[in-house]
Formats: sequence, structure tokens, C-alpha cells
Amino acid sequence: MQVAGKIAVVTGGGGGIGGALAARLVRDGARVVIADLDADAAADVAAAITWEHPGTAVAVGADVSDIAQLEALIARAEAEFGPVDVYFANAGVAGPVGLGEDGPWATALDVNLQAHVRAARLLLPGWLERGEGYFVSTASAAGLLTQIGSAAYSVTKHAAVGFAEWLAVTYGDRGIRVSCLCPMGVETALLRAGENSGDALGAAATRAVTSAGAVLTPDEVAEIVLAALDEERFLILPHPEVLEMYRRKGADYDRWLSGMRQYQRRLLEDAKS
Ligand SMILES: NC(=O)c1ccc[n+]([C@@H]2O[C@H](COP(=O)([O-])OP(=O)(O)OC[C@H]3O[C@@H](n4cnc5c(N)ncnc54)[C@H](O)[C@@H]3O)[C@@H](O)[C@H]2O)c1
Repeated sequence: MQVAGKIAVVTGGGGGIGGALAARLVRDGARVVIADLDADAAADVAAAITWEHPGTAVAVGADVSDIAQLEALIARAEAEFGPVDVYFANAGVAGPVGLGEDGPWATALDVNLQAHVRAARLLLPGWLERGEGYFVSTASAAGLLTQIGSAAYSVTKHAAVGFAEWLAVTYGDRGIRVSCLCPMGVETALLRAGENSGDALGAAATRAVTSAGAVLTPDEVAEIVLAALDEERFLILPHPEVLEMYRRKGADYDRWLSGMRQYQRRLLEDAKS
């Protein structure tokens, strides 16, 4: 799909990958609604975009874990620009370190998974009627592999991959396209959340990502995503080595688990020295 002339919504667009996606979408000719819990951050991103491309971006302060706010977001996008063609379910939270308590788990489930399901529920009737629509899920390499140091992040990102797959299987024949973005390290606030948690396992969570491969910039990721959308490719792997890691996991699960335990031991030992 060429994004020129399309209407896009990007959640978590107040910075990081979402901010870069919004800017890139507009450069490629789309109009974009930038939604974020941090309304000021969303407004700053929209202001920077409209400075160069007037009338192409609006900001909406929205908590995607709240159904009423999601409804209002999509209604605002339609009122501002017209029916939504592409929806980037990108907002995400790092979740609690380790096993975690129920409260932070509920937030991680709401933002990293349920917000995707709820947005799809709102968008699909119109998309099916029009015979087209594009859902782009930002999951993570943690959704294919795992996230050392965070059960909630690992599980909710696996769930996001599972939901994206299900959407693609169920509605692919009816014109609905789905892509699932699964990066490893990208230089954003979320990547540094573990490191800043003051917890050894949290620090290992960040180091597990930063030492496993290159840490990309959000702009680099946005470019890769837009190229994948052109090809309507489901799995978007900004770090191509993730495919080989995923193959190894599938080929010999026990060997992969043993390798991951060894990796975690090394990260925790390095933290002590
Ligand atoms: N940075 C990485 O290394 C990395 C790797 C893989 C996947 N991801 C995923 O990329 C996505 C974007 O994260 P990022 O790395 O750009 O980090 P980021 O912290 O820069 O962006 C996340 C954004 O989501 C917003 N957000 C959080 N909860 C929200 C809510 N309830 N409603 C609306 N907005 C909310 C935040 O305010 C923030 O602006 C996330 O889903 C993340 O899990 C990031």
C-alpha cells in the first residue's frame, strides 16, 4: 500500500517510534492523527510536522486503554480528515520488572494488547464495508522470542503478535491488511525503562536488548516500516537476525531456553562486576 493520500492514526505518537512514524507518513503524503497519553508530547510532534507540512497532522491526548477515549480518537480522526485507512497500534508500556503485581500487569495487558483488540473492533465494520483497511501492530521481538526481566512485557507482546496473526488470517481475504512490527532495540524512553528502574533484573532487561544487536533510531525503524507497508508484508523485522533467532527457537525449544538462561546469567553477572 502506498500511504500517499491515506488517513493514518498513530497511537503512542508523542515520541519514539510513533513520533518518527507520524513524521515519515506525512513526508510520504499521508495525513495523520497523533494520539498519546502525553497530550503535550503529541502536540509537539504535530506542531513540528505541520510547521513543514501545514494541515497534515493533528494531535489528540488519549489513553488507548480507555474504550471511550479510543472511540473519541477515531471519531476525531474521521471528523478531521475522513475515514481511517491505516491504524498504527503503537502505544506501549514496558510493564513491571520480574513477575510483577496485578495492577501493572493490567495496564500492560490493556495498553499492549487490549487497545489493539478494541481499536480493531471499532475499525473493522467500516473497513469491511469499504473492502480495505490496514492495521499495523507494534509488537516486539520479545513477542517472538522473550523479554529477559519482564514477564508482562514478554506475554503481552506475544499476545499482540497472536492477535495480529489472527486478524490477518480472519480478514485477509476481505481486503484487510495487517503488519506486525517486531524490533529489538530502538533508542527510546521505553528501551531505557528497565535500566532506570533501579532493579538488577530491570537493568538486565535493557542490557538484554542493547547487547543482542544494533540499537536503531526511531527514524530508521519508520523507514523500514513504510517500505514493508509498500510490500504489504506481515512481519516487519528491523533487525533481520531476529528471524534466525526465531527459527532456532522453533527448531529446538529446549536448546533455545538453555541459551536464554545462559544469556541471562551472563547479564546478571556482568551487572555485579
Ligand atoms: N524501544 C524499543 O527498543 C522497542 C522494541 C520493540 C518494541 N517496541 C515497542 O514500540 C512501541 C513504541 O515504543 P517506543 O519504543 O517508541 O517508546 P516511547 O516510550 O518513546 O513511546 C511509547 C509511547 O506510548 C505512549 N503511551 C503509553 N501508554 C499509553 C496509553 N495508555 N495511551 C496512549 N499512549 C500511551 C507513551 O506516552 C509514549 O509516548 C511500544 O509498543 C514498544 O513496546 C519498542
